[in-house]
Amino acid sequence: MVTSEIAALRELRSAVERVIGPIAAPIGLVLGSGLGGVASQIQHARRLSYSKLPHMVASTVKGHAGELVVGDWHGKQVIALSGRVHRYEGHDFRQVVMPVRLLAALGIDTLIVTNAAGSAHLGFQPGDLMLIRDHLNLTGGNPLIGVNDERLGPRFPDMTQAYDPELRALAMQVAAERSIALRQGVYCGLSGPSYETPSEIKMLSILGGDAVGMSTVAEVIAARHMGVRVMGLSCITNLGAGLGEGTLDHEHVAVVAREATDRMTDLVAGVVEALPELPVLRRPL
Ligand code: HPA
Repeated sequence: MVTSEIAALRELRSAVERVIGPIAAPIGLVLGSGLGGVASQIQHARRLSYSKLPHMVASTVKGHAGELVVGDWHGKQVIALSGRVHRYEGHDFRQVVMPVRLLAALGIDTLIVTNAAGSAHLGFQPGDLMLIRDHLNLTGGNPLIGVNDERLGPRFPDMTQAYDPELRALAMQVAAERSIALRQGVYCGLSGPSYETPSEIKMLSILGGDAVGMSTVAEVIAARHMGVRVMGLSCITNLGAGLGEGTLDHEHVAVVAREATDRMTDLVAGVVEALPELPVLRRPL
C-alpha cells in the first residue's frame, strides 16, 4: 500500500511534467467553492485537467472545476488546485489528499487553502472572511491511517502549529493594510454531505469551533506530514443550522462565496505579494 502511494506520486509527478513541462513553484493554492476565479488570473498559465492524470479523481461537485493551473500570480510562481475532491464523494482520504501531496512532491514550500464554511459562531455573518487559527478534525478519519512511509513524512506529525503563525500574522497585516475585515477562528471539518443539525452546530460551538465545513482538514494534515507550511482561509457563506432562519442549500453557499471572491482574492494576492522569495523544495520520492 505504502510503496504504491510513493509510486503513484512518482508517476503523477512525471505525468504532470511530461504534459506541461518542468515546474518550480514555491506556493500552492487550493481554491474552494466559488473561489475558482483566481485560476483565471494566473498569467502564462499552463493547465491540466485532473481527469487526464493517473491516480487523481475528478470532482463531481458543481463549482469545483478540477484542474491544475501553473503560472505567475502577483509576482510569484504558483500552482493552483482549482477544485478539490471530498471524502463525501466516496473517495478515501488518501485519494482526497493526492492533489496536495502532488504539490508537495513538485516542491511547494507554502500552501494556501481556501474553503466555504458555515458559521458556528454567533458573531459571524455570511460574507465574513475567517483566517483559520486551528482545526477540529471531526471527519472520523485521517489521511495518514495505514503504514507510514518515512519518505513522505513522520509517523506522528506534530499539529501544534498546523496553521503557520508567521503566515497568520502576515495575513492579518495584509488584511489591515487593505482594509479587509478578517476574523480568526477554529475550523471544524466534518465528513458531510448532509449539513449539520442545529444540535450539532451547538455542539461545535461548545467545543470551541467557529466555522464548519466538509473539506480542508485532511489536506492540511497531509501537507503538514510532508513539511509544507499552511495558511487557511474560510469564506463564511451561511449561519450554521439553527443559528438563523430558514434552511441551507448549496446554491446559496456558492452565491455568497462568489460575492466574497473579490475580497478573498485581494487578501490572498496581498499575502502572495508580501511573501519573501521562498525555496522550491522538490521532495525526493
Ligand atoms: N456546513 C458544512 N459545510 C458548509 C456549510 C455548512 O453550514 N456551509 C458551507 N459549507
